[in-house]
Amino acid sequence: MKSTIDYTKRIVLNGTLLFLLGALFLGCSNFNITNYYENGAVASSTPIATKIGSDLFRQGGNAFDVAVAVGLTLAVVHPEAGNIGGGGFALIRDGKSKEVRTLDFREKAPMAAHQDMFLDNDSNVIDDLSTLGALASGVPGTVVGLYELWEAYGTLPWENLVGIAASLADSGFIVDQKLAEKFAVYKNELSEFEETADIFLPGGNTPKAGDRLIQKDLAKTLYKIASQGPDGFYKGETAELIDSCMKKYDGIITTEDLETYDVIWRKPIVFNFDSLLIYSMPPPSSGGIILGQILKLVEPFDLSRYTSQSPEFIHLFCEMSRLAFADRSEHLGDPDYYAIPSGLLDSTYLDKRRGLFDPEHAGLSEITFPGIPAIESEETTHFSVCDKHGNMVAITYTINTSFGSKLVVDGAGFLLNNEMDDFSVKPGVPNVFGLIGGEANKIEPGKRMLSSMSPTLVLKNGKPLLVLGTPGGSKIITVVAQAIINFTRFGLTPIETVSHPRCHHQWLPDILYLEEGSFDINVLQTLIRYGHNIKEISHYSDLQLIYIDEDNGLMSPVSDPRKRGSSGGY
Ligand code: GLY
Repeated sequence: MKSTIDYTKRIVLNGTLLFLLGALFLGCSNFNITNYYENGAVASSTPIATKIGSDLFRQGGNAFDVAVAVGLTLAVVHPEAGNIGGGGFALIRDGKSKEVRTLDFREKAPMAAHQDMFLDNDSNVIDDLSTLGALASGVPGTVVGLYELWEAYGTLPWENLVGIAASLADSGFIVDQKLAEKFAVYKNELSEFEETADIFLPGGNTPKAGDRLIQKDLAKTLYKIASQGPDGFYKGETAELIDSCMKKYDGIITTEDLETYDVIWRKPIVFNFDSLLIYSMPPPSSGGIILGQILKLVEPFDLSRYTSQSPEFIHLFCEMSRLAFADRSEHLGDPDYYAIPSGLLDSTYLDKRRGLFDPEHAGLSEITFPGIPAIESEETTHFSVCDKHGNMVAITYTINTSFGSKLVVDGAGFLLNNEMDDFSVKPGVPNVFGLIGGEANKIEPGKRMLSSMSPTLVLKNGKPLLVLGTPGGSKIITVVAQAIINFTRFGLTPIETVSHPRCHHQWLPDILYLEEGSFDINVLQTLIRYGHNIKEISHYSDLQLIYIDEDNGLMSPVSDPRKRGSSGGY
């Protein structure tokens, strides 16, 4: 059962009528309508995946069943980021034990990887080598990651959950306008490898809106995973196809890399923000620590003096982000390879860092250095799921940039990631997101590359309040931080929170990014007067948020209106 509230009119309306009106007048978007669900809710980057998740709730599945099915479905219907050839992170709360855990299924560097693998003889970075083709790929983790999640908490048969995605690949799905536009933008890159062009450029053209996209090889691989579990990917024919692909294109992932790949359950980063308890992803994601730093640096300020779009708040938020991202460049990497300082969220340390803030002048990144804490880290997709049992699942997974390495494994039908670019390929040289790193994130065999992915859960008085996350590379962290501040400090509704204009600063490059056309000219002028270098960028990220009402447990999912996602439930 669900009830429907239109926040713009603040009246309760009939859900069916609103859907029809929405379909007629809003291009099928239900973005301005807040839906509340009793049994389970899902927000994902495509309507097809969201619908499949909602149907599974109706069939009695729990949040974990839905998350697994949504993850696999996105590998079919959201090929620019959904994947089985990539990796990611899950942050989960088990409603029964109330335990919060994280699952690390991030890609790993192949055993033959080495620090200078993307440099020429003069130690210069070779263009495109860490982003395009076989050498750009880390060992994928998605299949065993989703299996591990299902094995620990799922209730519906694995074969059924994978089977849904397999039959969608087999019989095809209808390409929508936004996916067609995405394909068109990437037409040149998708023609780089014949295996990729065969699927995404049938007859030499990218699929148009309304075309049916059939992926027979991907279906074959998914059917194998359905019947054999992870062995259907990491061993046997699929592993051999990956091996052949590597040999053909000078990649270095071996069948042994695939067989020995493992996922890791890790303790979440946990911290208080006001009266809330926030859980997010630990290293090898920088997400939890940098999110924690930004929120803790902002926490003591009285934001009631500002509005959420005021230059004073944007300045404060971006200056704190500058400080946090400076620390990211120096201190964060895979904790299994690098000793991350334990004091990065320590209040004494953060008080000292906060002291560098000047309310009327922008800092200068070239003289803003990473701190020394006490000794005691653009295309991805996120989906949020929760259910009436108190289960919460936030999963961000990726093949890194849109369509990853652009290389499809011949005969297996899936795109490989280009996640090796998330390592620091050379100290001081920015990656595709402009992020800089050094020793902590250098390439080493078997190591996981540093990420910004920040699947996040927020609890209030011990009860679920928010499940959230987004794609967006380095911007992931500031999008999640702003959402939490906008919702909890500025009192925005879930819809207002998700659609709110965004700002971003990541230390280097020393630029304050604002979503184009979203901020008043007076705001820009004040920020320039403070000394900021402003750059407007087109709408970014794809926030998927679920709000859970603490009084009645009703769940309200919201999917970012900037992209093609949707929310649903039962
Ligand atoms: N590939 C983007 C990230 O992991 O942050």
